[in-house]
Amino acid sequence: MSNYSIKNLEEYFNVYRESIEKPEVFWGKIAEEHFTWRKRWNSVLSGDFESANVKWFDGAKLNITENCIDRHLADRGNKTAILFEPNDPNEKTQYITYTNLSKRVNKFANVLKAQGIKKGDRICIYLPMIPELAISVLACARIGAIHSVVFAGFSSTALSTRINDSNCKLVITSDGSYRGEKTIDLKVIVDEALNNCSCTTSVLVAKRINADIKMKAGRDHWLQPLLDEASDICEPEIMDAEDPLFILYTSGSTGMPKGMVHTTAGYMVYTAYTFKNIFQYREDDIYWCTADIGWITGHSYIVYGPLANGATTVMFEGIPSHPDHGRFWDIIEKNKVTQFYTAPTAIRALAKESLSFVQNRDLSSLKVLGSVGEPINEEAWNWYNNNVGNKKSPIVDTWWQTETGGIMISPIPYVTPTIPTFATLPLPGIQPALMDTNQTELIENQVEGALCIKQPWPSIARTIWGNHKRYKKTYFSAFKNMYFTGDGARRDAVGYYRLTGRVDDVIIVSGHNLGTAPIEDAINEHPAVAESAIVGFPNEIKGNALYGYITLKDKGERRYQEKLRKEINQIITENIGPMAKLAKIQFTNGLPKTRSGKIMRRILRKIASNETSNLGDITTLLNPEIVAEIIQSRL
Ligand code: PRX
Repeated sequence: MSNYSIKNLEEYFNVYRESIEKPEVFWGKIAEEHFTWRKRWNSVLSGDFESANVKWFDGAKLNITENCIDRHLADRGNKTAILFEPNDPNEKTQYITYTNLSKRVNKFANVLKAQGIKKGDRICIYLPMIPELAISVLACARIGAIHSVVFAGFSSTALSTRINDSNCKLVITSDGSYRGEKTIDLKVIVDEALNNCSCTTSVLVAKRINADIKMKAGRDHWLQPLLDEASDICEPEIMDAEDPLFILYTSGSTGMPKGMVHTTAGYMVYTAYTFKNIFQYREDDIYWCTADIGWITGHSYIVYGPLANGATTVMFEGIPSHPDHGRFWDIIEKNKVTQFYTAPTAIRALAKESLSFVQNRDLSSLKVLGSVGEPINEEAWNWYNNNVGNKKSPIVDTWWQTETGGIMISPIPYVTPTIPTFATLPLPGIQPALMDTNQTELIENQVEGALCIKQPWPSIARTIWGNHKRYKKTYFSAFKNMYFTGDGARRDAVGYYRLTGRVDDVIIVSGHNLGTAPIEDAINEHPAVAESAIVGFPNEIKGNALYGYITLKDKGERRYQEKLRKEINQIITENIGPMAKLAKIQFTNGLPKTRSGKIMRRILRKIASNETSNLGDITTLLNPEIVAEIIQSRL
């Protein structure tokens, strides 16, 4: 038997060594023993980073939904697969069993087929965190359609960009969504987006808030009546291991969002294996990840990883502050949640509220706590450990990315001793390297450098949709024969990794990846704006907030600063979404630039963070005088 579940540190080191020395033997064994295949692979791993053309389990045939649903029906048919907690605590919890999930996924898959959807077609899913979201994802996978879930907080412009980039034929949405006290008119946003998308010919609309919405004849269909009519039997489409499973967009430091393409077999094997180990999942556990399925965390660790293990996975529609700041703890107490996986930004926000919210709840069911999305600061780590975990649940600080598909560096609970702020050790199959600016690998301990990965792992994104050249350039050109993560990291004396933040122009705000370029492009659309530069600065709750330096075409316009600030944030909201709004906007007479005209963000970052004592050498700038001016009028 393979070591599917690691139980102690010695075993971890043995398994790790084997996985690095003989990756094909290691992953081949896991794939063979824990999944259902229609045909075995010809080779476990082929291709390399040099050619940016990696394949896992090539030649194998399978359907991921057979692995996530069908194979559990015999033994776990009556077990809850998805436990749905609605936004309103007075609305009933839904327990969707594996049998029920199977029927609902098959019905949905048949509805898609009836709309003319075939293997390889792209489907955009723009839904709130309701069961239909997980079900539609699985329904796409059932028939081999490629899902592209867009987080339902994105604006209509961001949505249309994503729909057009991958030519989605069909969009799945709802009449609206609940968010705490508020409702959001999702269908209106979709209608606006589709004004700019000629590729989309049908829209399926789930009913959630009973909003009075417009339905476009011939294009829009209410989902429920179609589901009612559909058969609950749908044979799975048999897929090749390397057939795309989904596209998920992530921000880059420049230009268009990148449609990361994940394929079927490697993604399945890796997310299932990491889920099992990182959450030490046992048969009767109730696992809850608070992410939205619109992000990679939701894809891998709400849907695919847990379901591939026959787990019970909680889906929560609401927000942590509704009806009060005890909502997370209520849900844990009520459902006896055993593993709880959330983001540092949520922990920091809840830690600011009265301790009574958490202390009045019985959280003794918890066994493992997880953190993801950004570095977790020591204060938040301690608060989480002391108040939520009661010092008895290990915290797994999991480092990974949309591109990596699954968790890469993380403690294994009850196996790896944890230290606050350290993601600790690489998982089996993952070989990190820290690189200096001369492209040399730092092989000692107690070093800091750019974090790369030396060897392919099964769930690495295979390409950027429609732009393999960009994929190669972004991830494989900075360091020869290595995948470059865009993050910096430090390795301590015992070999533990601590992530130090992005080394490129991506800023993580409340766990959302925001590229500076798309925000600047949006701002520059304002007729009064000549130029802009966005940087991050520390924020107690969000981790980082955005600081914008903006030069106007006509200085005189500054008398309307308040109005301009509002308009600029409005443009950002329309183009990207409210999460990308600027916390501070400083109007400047110019931006510091190198002689080749490149904006010196390093200096602007320091000014925004009020670290002006050590700006380094600025004399070589094209316009050094602007620096003092900007410091003087800093907000
Ligand atoms: O900078 C790292 C940060 O989030 C980035 C990836 O963001 P995204 O693709 O949206 O995926 C987020 C969920 C996996 C990384 O490049 N990041 C993620 N987890 C951590 C982290 N930084 C530090 N510690 C983490 N645990």
